[in-house]
Amino acid sequence: MKAERLLEEIRARLDIVDVISDYLELRRSGQNYKGLCPFHSEKTPSFMVSPDKQIYHCFGCGTGGNMVSFTMRYENLNFHEALEMLAKKAGIDLKAYRFESSNDDIKDKLLDIHKKVLDVFRENLRKTKGASLYLIERGLTEETINAFSLGYSLKEWNQITNYLKGRGFQNPVVLQSGIVSAGTKSNYDVFRDRIIFPIFNLQNDVVGFGGRVMDNSEPKYLNSPDTILFKKGETLYGLSHAKEGIRKEGHAVVVEGYFDVLTCHQNGINNTVAPLGTALTSSHLQKIKRFTNKVFLVFDGDYAGRSAARRSLGMLIEQGLSPKILVLPEKEDPDSFIRNKGATAFKGLLAGSGSPVDFVLNTSEKDRTGAVHEAVEFISRASDLLMKEELILELSEKTGFRESVIREELKRLSRKIREKAGRPAAPAVPVQPLIYDEEILLLSASIAFPERVPYILKIVGLHEFRSPAVRRIMEELSAIGTGETMDSLMPHLDREEEMLVTRLTLHPGFDLEIADKNIDDCIRKVSSRKFDERRRELEMSGDPELLNALLLEKRKMLKEAR
Ligand code: CTP
Ligand code: MN
Repeated sequence: MKAERLLEEIRARLDIVDVISDYLELRRSGQNYKGLCPFHSEKTPSFMVSPDKQIYHCFGCGTGGNMVSFTMRYENLNFHEALEMLAKKAGIDLKAYRFESSNDDIKDKLLDIHKKVLDVFRENLRKTKGASLYLIERGLTEETINAFSLGYSLKEWNQITNYLKGRGFQNPVVLQSGIVSAGTKSNYDVFRDRIIFPIFNLQNDVVGFGGRVMDNSEPKYLNSPDTILFKKGETLYGLSHAKEGIRKEGHAVVVEGYFDVLTCHQNGINNTVAPLGTALTSSHLQKIKRFTNKVFLVFDGDYAGRSAARRSLGMLIEQGLSPKILVLPEKEDPDSFIRNKGATAFKGLLAGSGSPVDFVLNTSEKDRTGAVHEAVEFISRASDLLMKEELILELSEKTGFRESVIREELKRLSRKIREKAGRPAAPAVPVQPLIYDEEILLLSASIAFPERVPYILKIVGLHEFRSPAVRRIMEELSAIGTGETMDSLMPHLDREEEMLVTRLTLHPGFDLEIADKNIDDCIRKVSSRKFDERRRELEMSGDPELLNALLLEKRKMLKEAR
């Protein structure tokens, strides 16, 4: 498979320590490197990277894997996307490695369809005066229209349908694109007589479209359905245009709509993005987190806007993102505000936008104590301890309540939540201590010395392992053969199995120098189990001949295992 060859080449060129060092600070610690885990919040480092084994493992939260799974997890990518990203880092020309699975094939076709259809939409816009006029009336410049590749879908029912047919695209993939729909007699175009906003992914491919009517008809906006290219709940409009701006400014501005994004960018607020008509999701926030952890949320001043702000705010705090909130005057959105009052006025509002504490205190419908209670509730959700601390200090400053009182209230609240949940306080990130019993030790030895796997499995049958995870990993180890590295093992494992493997790699639980003695001890223990069980059964049934035969067999086995 080509992905495997590519992985090999990446491995030859990149070191996991360098890859991970791009994201966090690693310090040498013996043979390994140590750092603060990016996957849970901690103050003392329990995140280990092994340059020998080319794996990482966090002894705090249990996550672990190789550089591909790290990149997948950190950047929120699927396997192929992570490979592509690493390949780019390694300076590998991807053209030589076109992936060949059928899903990729469909994906390529869908990307091709979107790209071609966008060209048609753009050409339509150039040729349709009414549509250009609409955009100009809404204050967009030629430059913005081009930069965001805006287009127009004709009034007719089958321009795109016929166009795609003419290009030889087959029905299933055409329908899968969501740009064309199946009618009772024939297919028809989904977007008709609408301004088209292409939606780009981070690699600048068009993956979907939004379309707005030019009058008051309904629905005002229509978006592509979710496809294998595009998930509404994970996509932010404008992110591919905004990512540089977000990096430069050090924060992202999140607004609500297409026109808000366009008008902001046109006025130099280049770090603006919007969800696609849905509430902000944690996947959206994950995407933003790749570029910054500061987010300015801009909401309409109406009730719906305020309660949306409340929901998003809570989510941001939980995810360790530092939020600022700007609630606009009623009936205004960023687009209308900038057009009415100017970009400078809007930038002024942004600069003065409030902290979560300000927001809760200003918008609470309760009395002063009630508002403070609400604020404490928000603060209790903060996952980042430094942020929590800052919020506590701020709340005390702004309300005059003593810090100790606020902390007491926070404690009371978390007690209440625990009681409600009906379980005792759990440590922040519970990781079960590992019991190094004979099965785990055998597995550990097999990971350290894969060449011993055939020997072990000759005496201990796979079915004799009681732990399903151990059994599965042993099975995979024997399947991949001895010459292979850990990297070839990882893709075959589920998350729990992967965690176990990385954990044992870094903490084998026995002295590697006397591994062979350990292996034999453990083999003996595992193998004796079946004899002891059968013996118990036989003793109960009381057949002396069978019992003798069994004892002989056991002695023979023990001898075999040295
Ligand atoms: N939206 C949608 N489907 C709808 C209505 C809205 O997907 N039927 C999404 C669009 O992304 C839209 C955003 O929600 O941009 C905000 O909607 P709204 O405030 O109604 O529109 P505006 O963005 O202000 O658009 P306009 O200024 O053109 O009226
Ligand atoms: Mn608007």
